Amino acid sequence: MTVQTAAVPLPALREARVPEDGMYEGVRVLRRVPGGWEERPYERIELVPQGRTIGAEVRGVDLSCPLEPALREELNRALLEWKVLFFRGQHLTSVQQRDFAGQWGELETNPLLARGASDDVVRFDKGSGTTPTFENVWHADVTFRERPALGAVLQLREVPPVGGDTMWADMAAAYDNLPREVKERIDGARAVHDFIPGFARFYPPERLAPLQSVFPPVEHPVVRTHPETGRRMLFVNTSFTTRISGMEREDSDRLLRYLFQQAHVPEYQVRFRWQPGDVAFWDNRATQHYAVNDYAPHGRVAERVAIAGDRPF
Ligand SMILES: [Fe+2]
Repeated sequence: MTVQTAAVPLPALREARVPEDGMYEGVRVLRRVPGGWEERPYERIELVPQGRTIGAEVRGVDLSCPLEPALREELNRALLEWKVLFFRGQHLTSVQQRDFAGQWGELETNPLLARGASDDVVRFDKGSGTTPTFENVWHADVTFRERPALGAVLQLREVPPVGGDTMWADMAAAYDNLPREVKERIDGARAVHDFIPGFARFYPPERLAPLQSVFPPVEHPVVRTHPETGRRMLFVNTSFTTRISGMEREDSDRLLRYLFQQAHVPEYQVRFRWQPGDVAFWDNRATQHYAVNDYAPHGRVAERVAIAGDRPF
């Protein structure tokens, strides 16, 4: 017997309803690279995809050695196409980690976080699992800066027996899937970013004031354009975006709550389970991340080196 299956029309994505909690059901557009982007094979690296639009493990590279220009070009292309790259078992020294990141530009110092072996190495030492933590919220790093980081290189030195994963979300996919009426509201809009909501509680007032003069609130576009791919990406995050400029507080809060929720959509995400010595290298312009805090009372030690970025447009 032949079973006839009627073609089921797909719902028009742009007409999806916009619920208050930011989630909607149905088909999602999942484009990994921008339209018109020419994909070429990789000749110097092996790439194993870990997610639909975001995340790939790179094999066949030793990050402790300086990169040949052609290899660096391939890694940069992979970073643009996959947004976060994973390298297993590198066991880099802090100096090697800095040298690797330094091949992407000037390194960033971050006076808000614990210093590692040098000013441009940030050390996250959750020794007992009870150290206060603030990375388990969806965010892009340092968007309170005028020039937020281009990207970051994170290595795990100590890993709990289970847990302590990191998740990343593709903010180009998040933008692509916004309903048309939301895009119309935010295209061209600007938002205020400030380190205070994310960090103020960790500092006494006498330390906070000088930091506020170094990092006053800044405005960035709500939708930024990737400087290397030209792709449009949602650029607001829970940790640092405090309001949409020129909008009533209540409307701004409601719209931001909705936009923040987009990073929570599983289709835009990849999740990485660490082993000691693994390295992740992410494009901080195109992604948000979330360090899962599920490993107390075990420890977790990571070091991060960030690459200075440019002014979002
Ligand atoms: Fe972060």
